[in-house]
Amino acid sequence: MKAYVTGGTGFIGSHLVERLVDQGYHVTCLIRKTSNLRWLNHLLAAKSPQVQPVMGDLHDSDALASHVRDADIVFHLAGLTKAPDAATYDRINAGGTERLIEACLRAHPNLDRFVYCSSLAAIGPSRDTTPNTEDVTPQPLTDYGRSKLKGETIVREYADCLPITIIRPPAVYGPRDTDIFLFFRLINRGVMPILGDENKLLSLVHVKDLVAGIYTAAVSKCAVGETYFLTDGDIHTWMGIERTIADAQAKRPFKMKVPLFLLDFISIFTEAAAKVTRQTPTLNRQRVRDLRQRFWICDSTKAQKELGYRPTYFLQKGIQETADWYRANGWL
Ligand SMILES: NC(=O)c1ccc[n+]([C@@H]2O[C@H](COP(=O)([O-])OP(=O)(O)OC[C@H]3O[C@@H](n4cnc5c(N)ncnc54)[C@H](OP(=O)(O)O)[C@@H]3O)[C@@H](O)[C@H]2O)c1
Repeated sequence: MKAYVTGGTGFIGSHLVERLVDQGYHVTCLIRKTSNLRWLNHLLAAKSPQVQPVMGDLHDSDALASHVRDADIVFHLAGLTKAPDAATYDRINAGGTERLIEACLRAHPNLDRFVYCSSLAAIGPSRDTTPNTEDVTPQPLTDYGRSKLKGETIVREYADCLPITIIRPPAVYGPRDTDIFLFFRLINRGVMPILGDENKLLSLVHVKDLVAGIYTAAVSKCAVGETYFLTDGDIHTWMGIERTIADAQAKRPFKMKVPLFLLDFISIFTEAAAKVTRQTPTLNRQRVRDLRQRFWICDSTKAQKELGYRPTYFLQKGIQETADWYRANGWL
């Protein structure tokens, strides 16, 4: 069986590629001239590698068409999670998705499955403690979330001609992640930052459970045309997550409350500086808006019932494994 993966050089994509290799797939990975292959090198260096890098870009329709021609399943994970403005998010997360799915229709309309990795951000936070399910009306808060929702809408427009499946992860953590890692590092240095309400609720998924769920959805006939949230099955408080990160490192950090109005104020300067340096700031007002929400929660019951999805990483196990990986790799 052959799979084509976009985003295979990234955090989630590299774990998916490993999973597909374990399942016996031959995997073709979209890479760019600028891609860092550090998470794929061990697979590429194998004696008879099951992974083949192919050069291209989500902007290059002809390259995409030639890549997907032989694939049984296309996994579309490439995307921007940080960008300077809405137009850039749209160009890649929506425009790139449209180019790829058009390429599939043009070059390989008999594809077994097109899997699109969306996000909980495409739907937005819950209004209260009731977790989002797949049927709630999307109300994305940020440019990122809106671009991911546009990607979903485009994919669904092709549902009559191609067998599509959409996956919506909440926040993803695990080895190789560089976002939640920032909290591991701060806590390792003795500071536990409390950004806004420490009791705000959050869904999470460990990257290995996520890629197992993505794979199961891709090969399940009942998942054609369907959308699934994939979580670890729990709802967490921020405080609970940070305490677990501290315990995994045997630290007793100093709790530092950071008011969100202060972050909002700082964001004015980071955004202005980013305009001058043409870089994407880690902190901006949209990120603060995200942090202000009390219920970034969703429910994966549908995936459990229809796909038999069973997460195996409860928080403590996943955080411990992740902390151990950061330490073993010199990140902490
Ligand atoms: N991480 C999370 O918590 C999370 C949560 C929900 C949903 N998601 C979604 O999951 C997907 C993967 O996220 P991630 O965290 O693994 O991101 P990541 O580590 O930043 O990886 C992004 C991937 O997209 C590729 N890419 C970006 N622009 C591209 C372009 N123009 N052409 C081709 N490839 C391009 C990157 O390739 P290069 O190596 O060449 O840059 C990289 O492989 C994204 O679609 C994201 O929206 C992530």
